[in-house]
Amino acid sequence: MLIHRDIPGLRAALGAWRARGARIGLVPTMGALHDGHLSLVAAARAAADVVVASIFVNPTQFGPNEDLSRYPRDEAGDLAKLRAAGCDLAWLPTVEAMYPPGGATAVEVRGVSEGFEGAARPGHFRGVATVCTKLFLQTGADAAAFGEKDWQQLQVVRRAARDLDIPVRILPVPTVREADGLALSSRNRFLSPGERERAPLLHASLLRAAAAIAAGRDAAEALATGEDALRRGGLMPDYLALVEAETMRPLDRAAPGTAMRIVAAARLGTVRLLDNVAVP
Ligand code: PAF
Repeated sequence: MLIHRDIPGLRAALGAWRARGARIGLVPTMGALHDGHLSLVAAARAAADVVVASIFVNPTQFGPNEDLSRYPRDEAGDLAKLRAAGCDLAWLPTVEAMYPPGGATAVEVRGVSEGFEGAARPGHFRGVATVCTKLFLQTGADAAAFGEKDWQQLQVVRRAARDLDIPVRILPVPTVREADGLALSSRNRFLSPGERERAPLLHASLLRAAAAIAAGRDAAEALATGEDALRRGGLMPDYLALVEAETMRPLDRAAPGTAMRIVAAARLGTVRLLDNVAVP
């Protein structure tokens, strides 16, 4: 596996592969890799000839009071996992390589980025859309894999690529879960043992709400029941909402013929858990 930390090195390696006709698959990450990330590597591998995984803890997507400094970092462990997963190139830009001094351009995706995580974390999706656009352009990726766990992020990135005519195919990859349903996340390591036991309630509540809505129950009632269950279980729901899957437009009732998703965020101790499910 090649390792590059500056853009000229990255471009030279990718140029040589591209000259031989190889299609490039990108897996953007912030490191602290788990099996969810490795499923993104597998999806990129299935869609392309060469897999590039980026590890970059992107400062522009963290707010001033967020956890940039405590974001878990384990470069050696991450590289070993990528190597074992069959990744061809690890792209590890420094902050200076990604954001040279004097930079004045950012990518702002209106609409889809505005509610939910966008409302809770002002500026977050501008940072995500900007860094992902840069990663697409740096690598010239033909395909890029994103986890469905961050559903809104997936829609924001897809919208940005479409709107900017970036010829990258966005590959949505199903959420990888623990046996008890908890979605894998680099932040789960900050849950205490007691919190870890309560955490699967988020997925369970989402599934119950989705089944109730699919069975024709009133959506507002099903979501309110879900929020109550979370509170009773010691989680602090931030939102539990039915949305149009692609636009993130909130729906107050099921819309037959429209792909729908229930998205949720809840706080448990110092950790903000995110999850979502489809409404069948
Ligand atoms: O999901 C993540 O880990 C990050 O938001 C991403 C897509 C790598 C951009 O920094």
